[in-house]
Amino acid sequence: NTLNVIDRDGRQHAVEWEPEQSLMEALRDNDLPVLASCGGTASCATCHVFLDGDVVESLGERSEDEAELLVDAEGFREDCSRLSCQVEFEDRLDGITVTLAPEEE
Ligand code: FES
Repeated sequence: NTLNVIDRDGRQHAVEWEPEQSLMEALRDNDLPVLASCGGTASCATCHVFLDGDVVESLGERSEDEAELLVDAEGFREDCSRLSCQVEFEDRLDGITVTLAPEEE
């Protein structure tokens, strides 16, 4: 499975997404600059990414923890922002485009 990643310099990367990985793990394990300092427990916001609006919609509601972190995250966009550690692989997500959000100040 593949992911199309756009990094903070606008460069594109085609990377592998293994089904057992969260989206954050796929990014991190492919050496993209995602700090993920909390290790994937929805408590740091350094794994913030932008997804297409229809993908975000199809993922359903964010958890309360995720929603609270995201509103204060750098560059937050209601229609596109997700914490990548909270996105698990699904077949229908194969090939999506993920844009890394700005680094937290
Ligand atoms: Fe910390 Fe996702 S890795 S919130």
